[in-house]
Amino acid sequence: MSYPYQIKSLEQYHADYKRSVEEPESFWASVAENFVWKKKWDRVLDWNFTEPKIEWFGGAKLNITENCIDRHLATKADKPAFIWEPNNPEERTRVVTYARLHKRVCQFAQVLKNNGVKKGDRVCIYMGMVPELAYAVLGCARIGAIHSVIFGGFSAQSIADRLYDAQAEYIVTCDGAYRGGKDIPLKSVIDDALIGNRTVKRVIVYTRTRTPVSMIKGRDVWWEDEMEYALEQVEKDGVVSFPAEEMDAEDPLFILYTSGSTGKPKGVVHTCAGYMLWTTYTFVNVFQYQPGDIHFCTADIGWVTGHSYIVYGPLSAGATSMMFEGIPTWPDAGRFWDIVEKHKVNCIYTAPTAIRSLMNFGTDPIKGKDLSSLKVLGTVGEPINEEAWHWYDENIGKKKCPIIDTWWQTETGACLISNLAGVTPSKPSWATLPMPGVQPVLVDENGKEVTEKDENGILKGNLCIKAPWPGILRTTYGDHERCRTNYFATYPNLYFTGDGALKDEQGNYRITGRVDDVLNISGHRIGTAEVENAINMHSGVVESAVVGYPHDIKGQGIYAYVIYQGHHGDENSTRLDINLTVSKIIGPIAKPDKIQFVKGLPKTRSGKIMRRILRKIAEGETGNLGDTSTLLDPEVVEEIKVGRQ
Ligand code: WT7
Repeated sequence: MSYPYQIKSLEQYHADYKRSVEEPESFWASVAENFVWKKKWDRVLDWNFTEPKIEWFGGAKLNITENCIDRHLATKADKPAFIWEPNNPEERTRVVTYARLHKRVCQFAQVLKNNGVKKGDRVCIYMGMVPELAYAVLGCARIGAIHSVIFGGFSAQSIADRLYDAQAEYIVTCDGAYRGGKDIPLKSVIDDALIGNRTVKRVIVYTRTRTPVSMIKGRDVWWEDEMEYALEQVEKDGVVSFPAEEMDAEDPLFILYTSGSTGKPKGVVHTCAGYMLWTTYTFVNVFQYQPGDIHFCTADIGWVTGHSYIVYGPLSAGATSMMFEGIPTWPDAGRFWDIVEKHKVNCIYTAPTAIRSLMNFGTDPIKGKDLSSLKVLGTVGEPINEEAWHWYDENIGKKKCPIIDTWWQTETGACLISNLAGVTPSKPSWATLPMPGVQPVLVDENGKEVTEKDENGILKGNLCIKAPWPGILRTTYGDHERCRTNYFATYPNLYFTGDGALKDEQGNYRITGRVDDVLNISGHRIGTAEVENAINMHSGVVESAVVGYPHDIKGQGIYAYVIYQGHHGDENSTRLDINLTVSKIIGPIAKPDKIQFVKGLPKTRSGKIMRRILRKIAEGETGNLGDTSTLLDPEVVEEIKVGRQ
């Protein structure tokens, strides 16, 4: 498979960018010619950002799994689609060829059908990083069911909220998952999430750890039994088939929950055709994938990075995608490099937080490891500091591999701003240039485009995008108004990212971090309001305020100011209780790193918490706290400064 739309030079990038902006419809139509359609589109693009309404390839019919699997069977049946590396390095690697993937996805599609799942039904997937997770995702796509993958670190309560929000009737899970030295009892978390639930009809349980699980008659079934039965239905004379549902271009493909600055996480909805184009196009261009390369994205499929760059993007491009079950530091901090050597990985794509944590172990874990197969290094999820960038460049890439800093979001489907490996220049800690079709603009608080440069020629503002690209979110599940207010109402006719950014005179962008009340903890998004709500669930907590503070490894840490009125136990056990409460309500990823008990919070006369002050104190700034004259009770600030953790 060749990629006629692969950008090969800086000149071509500029030319393609220009065409994509001047003639978006013909530009994307020509990219779309490289996919398999059951029926071609009537119209390339129809949009407005006021409702918002965004339709790409209206009238077209397709199934994304035919693009990710079937179309490769003629030439790549025996080539690996996935190479799976288990948590335990002693266990055997699994290689899933395109033919095997086709068989398993057909089988699982049949399993879903046998269990009553129909097009448009929501299927919640809560599994560890095993190939069966990819089969489950693609099996849903095959029959047109909408998958909602939930990361294995979320709590039963979080799952229950997401099941309710999506009105999901089906779940696919594992008995347990291996992650480093831990066994995580996934099915038992699902059981807790289902207490009192009346809508879930079926739970399909894949055996991974063979930990004891409860199996409820009429509701819970084993993956293995179902797959065996389904095989008899999909295989005839040694030929496996299962018809791919004919989907409209704009039919939903999946829901993925992500945090915002207010309320509960929202279900970002991506649709079939636009998402397929965008993940494939960016995969081929940003990573400069060449047929035969082994691509290793270290993310979990529970996050959008895994959806787009382990599953859909690579498979649609006919690539070989590594899938790793474990964590970078187990059995030791050389695990990634062992995997690179063992499988001759050509591209590794990971988060700055992982790089920083490995940096802390020094270079011993790298010694003697053959990393010469590497051609491209990538980062994603948060700003990368220059120190980590250079460490990655020198110790992993040996200064021979371009580093791509890819900026994007759950809502954008795939990369929006990134250099193209080896094709457009990199600049440490800068995401650099927009992808073709992406029109960024920096605005001030009033939505006016910023024009005033600082002495170095740098513009600074809130990052917005002017027009839709194929992979933009279409709605938030069940609540279109929330989608509008969250992303399209802050500034009229612009998509607002929630990020702040700089732009240099060459047109490069540097993302500086969120400007809303969203935290980025180890590359994971968590809303301050969400954490506060969870802390406030603790019986002794009166009120709380959560802010981020700089953390050497995680990027940001969670700092909570808590007004507590309980009497039971000492401060430290109360801290542990509060942390456990947050773990139960959201999941361990949202646990505060620091909890400070306070008598009051700095509020304005109208009752608004002045987070700016709390942020400064958490950051260790005690001198200049800015204007505090509007505070109701300036004295609380002094007390908070003294009690800083
Ligand atoms: C937020 C999106 C993109 C998939 C993983 C996270 C931050 C993401 C970068 C980058 C600076 C980045 C932004 C963004 N972010 N990539 N290369 N440089 N910041 O997806 O959970 O939807 O989070 O992550 O703040 O808004 P997400």
